Amino acid sequence: MKIATNGVRTLAKETPVPFLDLKSQYTGIRDEILDALRDVADSGTYILGPRVADFEEAFAARAGARHCIGVNSGTSAIHLALICSGVQAGDEVITVPMTFVATTWAISYVGASPVFVDVDPVTYTMDVEQVERKITRRTKAILPVHLYGQSADMGPLLELGRKHGIPVIEDAAQAHGARYRDQGSGTLGLCGCFSFYPGKNLGAYGEAGAIVTDDSQLADRMKALRDHAQSRRYHHSEIGFNYRMDAFQGAILGVKLRHLEAWTESRRRLAQRYLEGLEDFPLALPSEAEDRRHVWHLFVVLHPQRDLIRRELEARGIQTGLHYPVPVHRQEAYAHLNLGQGAFPVSEKIAAECFSLPLFPELTEPQQDRVILALQDVLGEVR
Ligand SMILES: Cc1ncc(COP(=O)(O)O)c(C=O)c1O
Repeated sequence: MKIATNGVRTLAKETPVPFLDLKSQYTGIRDEILDALRDVADSGTYILGPRVADFEEAFAARAGARHCIGVNSGTSAIHLALICSGVQAGDEVITVPMTFVATTWAISYVGASPVFVDVDPVTYTMDVEQVERKITRRTKAILPVHLYGQSADMGPLLELGRKHGIPVIEDAAQAHGARYRDQGSGTLGLCGCFSFYPGKNLGAYGEAGAIVTDDSQLADRMKALRDHAQSRRYHHSEIGFNYRMDAFQGAILGVKLRHLEAWTESRRRLAQRYLEGLEDFPLALPSEAEDRRHVWHLFVVLHPQRDLIRRELEARGIQTGLHYPVPVHRQEAYAHLNLGQGAFPVSEKIAAECFSLPLFPELTEPQQDRVILALQDVLGEVR
């Protein structure tokens, strides 16, 4: 393989194209954000309170769920969802190895074991064909991940859940505003878990997460559990957690939620431009399934020479990301599961070949064109 370095130097001299630019988004909504923050500072209520309640109501309505429970991270959201679904020590939860590791942390926190099925080679979400044969007497939940912003194939999963009496919990951490057959992601299963980590499509300015559900009993228990399981002040009905959302995050999320739809449309437009611009490139491109609305949290492409291409793009001023280079079954933390290389070939291929191109609502078309040109340049030289 050979990479030409002449003729592309001019690209490197331009301002780098960042993988993500949270500051440019902030600049556009600065006054709204600062007003909201001032409000919270003046209110004297810094944890939960009216700003969080307002956001919960708005987020539930937007998702199409009856309840939203704001918490302090997406990881906590999945943890509470598993507890409230009745998953206990010794149980099994079916999920995918191609995800951010927090999906399985939550399974481990309740003392259950993750049982993996591979992902589909086209959508990169749970391969529904593989699920039924992994169901045992100990299976207490199915936990699909709406990876990169596209829903898993929820129809067959919900049917399997009904048939076997197993709840389906959605890891919608990357899928704010995504849809499956016209239903909002997170609202199809028993509950849906969201992350508001700053880089997410709806991101806080710190840590935050939420669960949405239509089940009022579940919602009540989650609201108690996130706040030390207090039924009344200083009366604790079970072992609880400090998983409360803070008021500054609630206020920021309330402001940003008003912009989410426009930002999502911008992501979708840019993703379409990438799909057209990269059509003839020797890359495996992502796609949107017909019955789904992809919200393009990430635009992930595959190439066997991924590391070299990323280095060459970096040299040309193009930043890229990696989501994710090691599938969960190959993480040291899960070595005790004894799942060797080859156990989940699709996930392993994605992990080995993936890289994520810059895609955020404020990315300009000239910036995106520079990404496409630089990729063309680099790929033309990869042998
Ligand atoms: C798929 C997935 N699940 C869970 C999480 C955990 O969310 P958080 O980082 O807010 O704890 C994340 C985000 O990082 C994620 O991408």
